[in-house]
Amino acid sequence: MTQTLLFSPWQLRDVTLRNRVMAAPMWQYAGRHWRPTDWHLMNLGRLADGGSGLVFQEGTTVERRGCGTVGDIGIWDDAAVPHLRRLVDIMQDCGAVPGIQLMHAGRKARQKPPDQGRGPLLRTPEIADWDDWDVIAPSAITLPGESAAAPRAMSEADIHAVIDAFVAAARRADAAGYQVLDLHAAHGYLLHSFLSPLANQRGDAWGGSLANRMRFVLEIVAGVRAVWPAGKPIFVRLSVIDGAAGGWALADSVALVREMHRLGVDLIDCSAGGIAGSPLPAGQSASYGYQVDLAAAIRRETGVPTSAVGLIVHASHAERILREGACDLVALARELIHNPNWPVDAAIKLGDDIGYRVMKTRGGFWLERRAATVPGLRASTQGEDELSPRESPG
Ligand SMILES: Cc1cc2nc3c(=O)[nH]c(=O)nc-3n(C[C@H](O)[C@H](O)[C@H](O)COP(=O)(O)O)c2cc1C
Repeated sequence: MTQTLLFSPWQLRDVTLRNRVMAAPMWQYAGRHWRPTDWHLMNLGRLADGGSGLVFQEGTTVERRGCGTVGDIGIWDDAAVPHLRRLVDIMQDCGAVPGIQLMHAGRKARQKPPDQGRGPLLRTPEIADWDDWDVIAPSAITLPGESAAAPRAMSEADIHAVIDAFVAAARRADAAGYQVLDLHAAHGYLLHSFLSPLANQRGDAWGGSLANRMRFVLEIVAGVRAVWPAGKPIFVRLSVIDGAAGGWALADSVALVREMHRLGVDLIDCSAGGIAGSPLPAGQSASYGYQVDLAAAIRRETGVPTSAVGLIVHASHAERILREGACDLVALARELIHNPNWPVDAAIKLGDDIGYRVMKTRGGFWLERRAATVPGLRASTQGEDELSPRESPG
């Protein structure tokens, strides 16, 4: 009997994950009129069927002006709920816990999609609601290094409107059936830009001291926790550090995490950077697990569960960082593009008894049957070998 940590179930509040693999949120740039399409159904379905315990839907925007680019999907009106419920249903049918990330792009709004090189989006007749796409931020400071649109500094009324939009979005996410909510407070988007002194230079109650810069995020957390069911967990994706340019630092994150935990946040999804480029020192490129130390530090300093993300690719590495206590969940993004069935492959490579049953649906049955019929057969993801089976799978 072999049982890895990676494939042990994990419970948070009333929600139990079948394993500790988390599919990190990934924008698909595939929405139409701010609604999900069949692409989202297929993509989230294949991630869930591939065996991840928790599958996060991409950053879903809480108000129209918070959209990053065309192709985003929104949750600012009740009519979105039935569209989103289809996505929830397929994730659940495939055995994954469905999660949603809620976001507001702030000064990163109204940009060209990455495959068009970013930069400010140009007005076109196809964008019928262009006038609703106001680019807002804590201060009127343009994103450095990217030729984004110049943002307008938010008024007190804007601030309260965005807090209300997050709370209303959480209500709708619950109505659609999501089980875990992730608030996007990373990568230079609106929540992160309130935290960082590099983007927030307000002189009122929402800027200046650390307590003032944390206020916006804490008010959102408190408002969301009040409407999100007590049995369902809340995660916060945090840029734990801004990086080489200074700004937001680990000690600030520790202080914020303690406050957020007091308000009912259950896990910190630990990322980095985005306010002023890469979080890595100049000239250094990312290597396997380059943000794991941040997740470990937050977990150690605060006792709050964490997930680690960033170039986690190999099953043995994922298992090791869980065993070392760096994190409670292992989050993967690009590796799941490469192989949405990564959890199945990982369970086989680690020799966990769950084997192909990581997959809840038909695939697991057929793969288990093939393994029983052709002993020693290895899947293409497990590397080439000399075996040339004479028997065909029954
Ligand atoms: C196509 C794509 C879309 C992404 N969209 C989001 C997103 O919606 N929200 C978010 O917090 N991070 C997003 N990310 C970042 C990933 O969640 C993850 O943190 C990052 O890719 C590093 O993990 P990886 O090395 O496993 O890919 C995206 C990444 C990619 C590649």
